[in-house]
Amino acid sequence: MSAPNKSYDPVEVSSLQPDELDQARDEALAAIAAAGSLEALKETRLAHTGDRSPLALANREIGALPPAARAEAGKRIGAARGAVAQALKTRQAELEEERDQRVLVEEAVDVTLPWDRAPRGARHPLTTMQERMADVFLSMGFEIAEGPEIEAEWFNFDALNFKPDHPARTMQDTFFVESEDTGVVLRTHTSPVQARALLSRELPVYVVALGKTFRTDELDATHTPVFHQMEGLAVDEGLTMADLKGAIDAFVTGLFGGHLPVRLRPSYFPFTEPSAEVDMQCFVCRGASIELGAEPCRTCGSEGWIEIGGCGMVNPRVLTAAGVDPERYSGWAFGLGVERTLMFRHGVKDMHDMVEGDIRFTLPFGMEI
Ligand code: PHE
Repeated sequence: MSAPNKSYDPVEVSSLQPDELDQARDEALAAIAAAGSLEALKETRLAHTGDRSPLALANREIGALPPAARAEAGKRIGAARGAVAQALKTRQAELEEERDQRVLVEEAVDVTLPWDRAPRGARHPLTTMQERMADVFLSMGFEIAEGPEIEAEWFNFDALNFKPDHPARTMQDTFFVESEDTGVVLRTHTSPVQARALLSRELPVYVVALGKTFRTDELDATHTPVFHQMEGLAVDEGLTMADLKGAIDAFVTGLFGGHLPVRLRPSYFPFTEPSAEVDMQCFVCRGASIELGAEPCRTCGSEGWIEIGGCGMVNPRVLTAAGVDPERYSGWAFGLGVERTLMFRHGVKDMHDMVEGDIRFTLPFGMEI
């Protein structure tokens, strides 16, 4: 409040005139009503009730009035200031209410929306397929055996009875580490684990090996330079082809269910003798598509049979190379490609899908463990 105005000059205090006061009040009320936002109202409050506002100035001038006039002037100014303060309060409440309503709409969160829309990924079907295959063998009492992916040529070829001039040994088919004369290759199959298992374990040996294998193929719909194989090996006294056939029957039943017939077709591998290709009856048409006039079957190409891998009785030369007496022991081996199995079991048409890591391919296989 300003100091008492001893030299009272009525001209200076015109803001105390009733009509001036009414005008100041009405302007304030109009501005308050027109304030469209809380920010605008703040400005209005400052302009019409702040220290430099006409009403504040008038209030300050009361002290300068002669004592007799103060009560009446104080009453009028008080009423005007009261009306403005009330209008500010009301408008403030209205604008806050408006803001709250708007925030409720604009910042609404729909708590019923699904919360787990971020893709969580899936295990790769090649992994789950390998686990399934291992499980079938584990359930028959086999153990898991392993070998290195970067392998000595001796284990990959020599120990397995590949002659020095075997075409598989050339750079045409095999990735050599550095040069061809280092004797180190990326294993071209899981069969070197046969020799490793026999050299490192007590007999009898019942093992299954799974893992990456490498060949110099271009990536296309049906080939990939990096692929996976599974290999079962049993070496014991008195094992025959009947044991081999029985194990493959159990494997096919374990992986496909339904006791599908298995047939062996004579073949050749340097490390097995005799050797055979393994076919299982098609699990989709169950052989029916070969009949004349039958519906064609896409899974087996209407062959009725699906080739799943190779097998045979372990060549005595392999047993000898691995320090096992072939007079006393015999064994069988059975190997297959994991990608190929995944392709025909799940109708995967293109090998690219298996190596590109697109989650749209892996997701439908789920998180199966
Ligand atoms: N290693 C062979 C291949 O890669 C498959 C096989 C394994 C054949 C075991 C017979 C016995 O084709």
